[in-house]
Amino acid sequence: MTVGVFVFFALLACTFVYAGVPHDVQSLGSSSDINNNEIQIINHENENEQKPINEQFPTAVLFGRTCGGTIISPTWILTAGHCTLFTSGRDILAGTNNTENGSGLRRRVKRLVIHPRFSVGPYWLDADRFNIKEVGARWDFLLAELESPLPLNGKTMAAAQLDDVARHSPGEEVGYAGFGAEEHGGVMREKMHVMDLEILADEECSNLVEFDKQDMICTRGRPPRYDSACNGDSGSGLIRNGKILGVASWVENDAHECRNGAKVIFSRVASVRDWIKEVTNI
Ligand SMILES: *[C@@H]1O[C@H](CO)[C@@H](O)[C@H](O)[C@H]1NC(C)=O
Ligand SMILES: *[C@@H]1O[C@H](CO)[C@@H](O)[C@H](O)[C@H]1NC(C)=O
Repeated sequence: MTVGVFVFFALLACTFVYAGVPHDVQSLGSSSDINNNEIQIINHENENEQKPINEQFPTAVLFGRTCGGTIISPTWILTAGHCTLFTSGRDILAGTNNTENGSGLRRRVKRLVIHPRFSVGPYWLDADRFNIKEVGARWDFLLAELESPLPLNGKTMAAAQLDDVARHSPGEEVGYAGFGAEEHGGVMREKMHVMDLEILADEECSNLVEFDKQDMICTRGRPPRYDSACNGDSGSGLIRNGKILGVASWVENDAHECRNGAKVIFSRVASVRDWIKEVTNI
């Protein structure tokens, strides 16, 4: 049972071995090729990347002890339904890039609302025993209402807008921030990390038996790192321009490993826009 739980958890959360590689490594050619104007342009384009990562992702929170989540209003967090299987979800930590040094704000959760159609794939507790490579979850959404509102400041703490675009174009650049493990079965990281992904066409995930485009978004890491996800990244929000498109749900081959290049499946927020409104009034 315990092993199974870890396995499933691994699926959902998966993140990266390469997380330690600096984000801003890029091939700019020899320095003599670059004049001052070009440097200014480069700096401007990378403005966001030079902020601390928690300020690039001020909507990201730690949910319970082992999942990510996204602020969608001062009193509501959106995370993954399967997170209820691994963490009590009794509180969240917002507004920080370090979960262990007393920074950030904790808020108790007063109510959890799971999507009525949430379910997990077959044998998810026994993936190893049945040699199942990946275990998907359907309608993998959970809403957590906080006991008291977060003082959103727009810098280290902000609410993500909810996406309502039915289909995104392959190649769109997206990303998420979280505290998931560095390796399969590992412990949560203290420091927030960011994964750079891109949207793939639904067909690219059609080889994964658990994939269904109705409630899922297919993504993969961008070069050169080809980020993915690992245990503890579950529930993290897939963000583009301050909007949440998806919730980290499961990973290709996640039952046995966390590997760069593995496709990451997010629950599609636009597919439950009505449900979110019904529950939260947002
Ligand atoms: C952590 O967050 C604080 C507040 O946003 C920021 O000032 C600091 O630079 C960040 N540190 C790192 C290492 O990202
Ligand atoms: C906590 O750690 C972050 C970076 O890891 C740092 O920026 C921040 O100043 C620290 N805060 C405290 C209260 O030590």
